[in-house]
Amino acid sequence: MNVPLFKIFWDDEDVRSVTAAIQKGAYWAIGPMIDEFEKRIAEYIGQKYCVTFNSGTSALHALLLSCGISPGDEIIVPSFTFISTANSALFVKAKPVFADIERTTFGLDPASVEEKITKKTKAIIPVHYGGCPCRIQELREIADDHNILLIEDAAESMGAMLGGKMVGTFGDASMFSFCQNKIIATGEGGAITTDSKEIFEKLKLMRSHGREDCANYFATSDYLEYVSLGYNFRMSEITAALGVAQIKKIDRLISMRQKNARHYAAILKHVPYIRVPEFSPEYSSVYQLYTVLINGGRAQRDGLIAQLGQNHVSSKVYFYPVHLTRFYRETFGCSPGMLPVTEEVSDSAITLPMYPSLTTEEMDYVAGVLARCTL
Ligand SMILES: Cc1ncc(COP(=O)(O)O)c(C=O)c1O
Repeated sequence: MNVPLFKIFWDDEDVRSVTAAIQKGAYWAIGPMIDEFEKRIAEYIGQKYCVTFNSGTSALHALLLSCGISPGDEIIVPSFTFISTANSALFVKAKPVFADIERTTFGLDPASVEEKITKKTKAIIPVHYGGCPCRIQELREIADDHNILLIEDAAESMGAMLGGKMVGTFGDASMFSFCQNKIIATGEGGAITTDSKEIFEKLKLMRSHGREDCANYFATSDYLEYVSLGYNFRMSEITAALGVAQIKKIDRLISMRQKNARHYAAILKHVPYIRVPEFSPEYSSVYQLYTVLINGGRAQRDGLIAQLGQNHVSSKVYFYPVHLTRFYRETFGCSPGMLPVTEEVSDSAITLPMYPSLTTEEMDYVAGVLARCTL
């Protein structure tokens, strides 16, 4: 047996939707499927506005510009994340300030965030790690107390809920990614949702060269004014066509992942050196990642990844701490020991295969291999 880390879930409807967009033979850049995808995302999350982007990273970049983050501002971010959460601060010449995480959700620890707030703090960007909501309600309160923005990095967590409330509805704005291993996938892609009309309008300018968005640029002979600096961060019509077909099945994709997580939890409890993810009932994870912690440190963890690989099971470390990458060490003088929980969790974390079509036999095989591995 060969078990990959993730598999993309696609079906005939995805193919039909993309084919139809191609066969139109027109409007491959800006077209009606973009509007349709944005409408469906906004409805699904329960926010007034949505703007799509060509990646989650460009979405965050545009969002920070739209929120008026400027040089010298500080933005509190986790280090246990994909690097672009922190890099987004640098894109706008702000300073990423790392706070530590807590051990249950692997999201930002509200106490650590409080400690990092200064007069220069303009925003907090918590990550909902691997599909699990972080302690976002407490972070909302902290943001309100200090009058700073709360931006949810929900790249991995479309559809996750806390206390029955959708992730993406706690922050002033939220980012989702549709990169190939996410809950819904379009190859590359991202989106911002928000209830703020002001942020929404700025996002549209940032996404498309600072150009007034009153008509389809390619379909009109009118002059459209350029009113600010902007980028080409647009999602293509063909990508959006795939997104529309994907979001139609999101509930099914999530329940398949949740069913798999339940099976993993049941069988992995027999592997004594592993701690499976466990959250209290109000936390509804969508399990974009299935990350377990082992009783052991980096050497044992790396040994396990090698043994899994020898048995044709792919696994990976999501994530090595951002503050310990060479770039952050050399540019900002970050060093080990700065974020004890992040470093400890990262050293003992292994992300196991997880995808909607993962079979019981595949999970049993993974658990069997883990049971035979030596620490
Ligand atoms: C937590 C987190 N933030 C940001 C991103 C960036 O999204 P994208 O890959 O769509 O640019 C990702 C995706 O990998 C992510 O996992």
